[in-house]
Amino acid sequence: MMAVRKSSALFSLLAIISALAGLANADYEIGVGIADCTGPTAEINFMGYAKGTQKGQGLHLRQFARAFIIQDSENRIVFVTADVGMIGIGVRREVLKRLSENYGDIYNEQNVIISGTHTHGGPGGFLMDVIFDITCLGFSRETFNAYVDGIVNSIKAAHEHIVPGKIFIGSTQILDASINRSPSAYLLNPQSERDEYEHDVDKELVQLKFVSSVDNSPIGVINWFPVHATSMNNTNHLVSSDNVGYASILFEKKLNKGALPGKGKFVAGFASSNLGDVSPNIKGAKCINTGEPCDRDSSTCGGEAKYCIASGPGEDIFDSTKIIANRILSKATALFDTNDSTEVTGPIRSIHQYVDMPKQEIEYQMHNGTVQKVRGCKPAMGYSFAAGTTDGPGEFDFKQGTTTTNEFWNFVRDFLAPPTDEDISCQSPKPILLATGRMIKPYQWQPEIIPTQVAMIGDVVIAALPGEFTTMSGRRMKKVIKETVLENGGSEDTKVILAGLCNVYTDYITTPEEYQMQRYEAASTIYGPYTLPIHLNQYKLLTEALLNDQDLGSGPNPPDFSKKLISFIPPVILDLPDYSRAFGECLEEPNEEINVGETVSVKFVSGHPRNNLMHDKTYLTVERQEGEGWNVVATDGCWETKFSWNRTYFASSEVTIDWEVTDEVKAGTYRIQHFGHSKSLFGGIKPYRGTTRPFKVVH
Ligand SMILES: *[C@@H]1O[C@H](CO)[C@@H](O)[C@H](O)[C@H]1NC(C)=O
Ligand SMILES: *[C@@H]1O[C@H](CO)[C@@H](O)[C@H](O)[C@H]1NC(C)=O
Ligand SMILES: *[C@@H]1O[C@H](CO)[C@@H](O)[C@H](O)[C@H]1NC(C)=O
Ligand SMILES: *[C@@H]1O[C@H](CO)[C@@H](O)[C@H](O)[C@H]1NC(C)=O
Repeated sequence: MMAVRKSSALFSLLAIISALAGLANADYEIGVGIADCTGPTAEINFMGYAKGTQKGQGLHLRQFARAFIIQDSENRIVFVTADVGMIGIGVRREVLKRLSENYGDIYNEQNVIISGTHTHGGPGGFLMDVIFDITCLGFSRETFNAYVDGIVNSIKAAHEHIVPGKIFIGSTQILDASINRSPSAYLLNPQSERDEYEHDVDKELVQLKFVSSVDNSPIGVINWFPVHATSMNNTNHLVSSDNVGYASILFEKKLNKGALPGKGKFVAGFASSNLGDVSPNIKGAKCINTGEPCDRDSSTCGGEAKYCIASGPGEDIFDSTKIIANRILSKATALFDTNDSTEVTGPIRSIHQYVDMPKQEIEYQMHNGTVQKVRGCKPAMGYSFAAGTTDGPGEFDFKQGTTTTNEFWNFVRDFLAPPTDEDISCQSPKPILLATGRMIKPYQWQPEIIPTQVAMIGDVVIAALPGEFTTMSGRRMKKVIKETVLENGGSEDTKVILAGLCNVYTDYITTPEEYQMQRYEAASTIYGPYTLPIHLNQYKLLTEALLNDQDLGSGPNPPDFSKKLISFIPPVILDLPDYSRAFGECLEEPNEEINVGETVSVKFVSGHPRNNLMHDKTYLTVERQEGEGWNVVATDGCWETKFSWNRTYFASSEVTIDWEVTDEVKAGTYRIQHFGHSKSLFGGIKPYRGTTRPFKVVH
């Protein structure tokens, strides 16, 4: 499809050049960008497993935000996938505010989609709603700023690198990287519906490939494959972007000819999708105390959830992360390398509306055929929420599949805020553990007014979903959107992509059938049994309005309580080296000679890593001697390095740097440096640096 463009002189010039070069005219202008969004790496709780003791103690893989801008002569959309647990309304609001300071209203609620990869290895405290920040001791301004800065910088980088380009779509199957972690709930979906699908999780990876139309060189890729980023379990204390984050790093390394993480031009986003009930721990769950299978419906061992843990496919969590990352990567790169994909053509459009979930009322066809009015409920969490999942079980005596209540926990719940009779019947059969919709102190516990959004690039529809849809919930969403497109004169070739965890976090979305069983995902379906049908109705309205160019209105404005936020997170007060030592002093030197296959481990006197997050820099370098100088071969964002921080006592701390010497490492002379900052009692923060003695790597 040919389109007339006049947005910039540069673009016209490039278009002429590409026309002269005998290439087809570019259909789109495309920009990709990557920026560091790593949060504070020490002493802030991780977001995901809700485990109070899972605090950061260093860094394995840096967190990155990856932005993709696609525009035609009329419109543009921005899709950002960030290595964070999820996105909050406050994060998106602040990102848009900062963008407006630079770009006016070019980037706005209509056209910016921000999605979290759902890594459980990133610091939390950034969502604002009380329930999500509570295990982090409240709001973390440091985490919030780190994520906002990174996301804004990634969009700026993309904005500055817009070139004429083409988009290709393709898909592939990955059979060995995911399983369903609540298979018994999935079985409650109607047989006839399940018969339409081969697997109880979606095995398809859908990929958009971006190619410059000036010289046909690849500029970026985004793909969506549903799997939880929980290969790193809740015993991990090093910040990590987990399986999908590592897949991104490896894809970028390949196309950027070995550039260090975050430093190349080509950007590869592995984004989240309908991963609600999908685990990467494909050996499945078993009782770690006895080796026996867990009870199927409650995921317990002898009545206790804490022993029923899923793992695999590797020997430990690092190994599993690496294996899953490589399985997803190899399918994605194979798809990328074949030209077996279809060019995407057609206009760019997007639509966005806020919806007050508890106020929604829709018509819903029950199984017995009668159509009934159903409605959304005030948010509430069920008992089974506290049981956790087999990817990370909870700490108390809760089990999945709980549909009855208990006097003691009801007492605790009512002390916080009792649910009304209406809440109880609305949420039934969910036994309410936390009536979050009734808890208003010190501010909102869970969102009620939420963003919904759909974007289209030609025949590709991207549904920006506000949480974790289960496999079947996602399939129903795809179906409804596709039917709506067809009913409105759209193409049979329409492809619907589910982008998970976008713009807000509303926990899980199960089907009404799965909801009956009250496993973890259902207990965390916060607006009650008809949460999914309400979303299906809303995304149908959005799609219709988008195709017919109608204005649905922006909907009610979600409350802004950013001025009320409370935090009990202790700040860094002071760093003091041990008596007679200096910051950066090397406490443990490397051996003089290291063989390939060994891990070098060194130690330095350090300051607190929270004194400076080192965005786009590094806490460490591994350097190889080349002539007179030293050449950096690895940073803290590399898989082969680990940066671990430890408080030794009072205000003293040290860092351990591990470097795995793989067979890719050339023989030669090396050294390791540590870069940090120390804080003095009266506020000054000063940089310091430490360097090991040189050592030899031999083959
Ligand atoms: C986490 O993974 C490690 C293996 O790396 C395993 O020993 C441990 O039992 C797992 N723990 C939990 C709580 O998942
Ligand atoms: C795919 O297309 C590119 C650019 O036209 C070309 O360089 C490459 O060889 C093709 N790859 C395959 C596997 O056909
Ligand atoms: C169908 O099911 C609903 C909900 O369970 C019930 O209220 C309704 O009366 C049923 N209708 C018929 C015709 O059985
Ligand atoms: C951290 O420091 C304490 C105090 O010196 C020590 O006992 C502990 O073993 C250290 N932990 C690690 C992981 O190095």
